[in-house]
Amino acid sequence: MDAIVAVYDDWGIGADGTQQIALSVDRKFFREMTRGAMVIVGRRTIDDFPGKKPLPGRVNVALTRSSVQIPGFTVCDSPEAAVELAKTVDRAFVIGGGSIYNQMLPACDRAYITKVHVMPESDTFFPNLDEDPQWELEQILQSGEENGIAYEMCLYKRKGTA
Ligand SMILES: NC(=O)c1ccc[n+]([C@@H]2O[C@H](COP(=O)([O-])OP(=O)(O)OC[C@H]3O[C@@H](n4cnc5c(N)ncnc54)[C@H](OP(=O)(O)O)[C@@H]3O)[C@@H](O)[C@H]2O)c1
Repeated sequence: MDAIVAVYDDWGIGADGTQQIALSVDRKFFREMTRGAMVIVGRRTIDDFPGKKPLPGRVNVALTRSSVQIPGFTVCDSPEAAVELAKTVDRAFVIGGGSIYNQMLPACDRAYITKVHVMPESDTFFPNLDEDPQWELEQILQSGEENGIAYEMCLYKRKGTA
């Protein structure tokens, strides 16, 4: 299982339930990476999806502690249940938000991190993998600038994994 996220320079990922700055090049990268895969997402992040609808062309798994049905999503009531579901498919991505990344990163071996080189004020953060001895930068997959904002798509791997 992999994580995919866009982080600002302080590893902030959002504020007030949304992403303050989102690059279209990163949205495209996200779409290409996750197409056809399972995506695992927290209920608060779903609230920020257009129309609160599932992402098309993906198997959408929602994490919530409430017992509601969410149309278009398979609902899980724990990260452990989501990990079990992820074992039933070839490719699964943890796509946020902050609480879900924090709880599910230990079950991930790879993390696709888009570094967006700005620093708006965030209230939600991704763990800083540059300071985590269990993780290493494997490769910079893509880099450039959009509207004057530099970015890099980085692949991090958990040390000791293939
Ligand atoms: N930069 C990026 O790439 C990126 C990606 C995704 C999200 N984000 C940002 O992240 C922020 C949202 O993150 P967040 O931490 O506030 O919310 P979140 O992780 O998206 O969702 C939290 C919700 O998930 C459910 N949940 C959490 N732990 C659970 C558990 N152990 N078992 C079952 N359900 C559980 C709960 O839903 P219930 O309350 O329904 O029980 C909880 O309220 C937003 O600002 C968003 O824009 C950024």
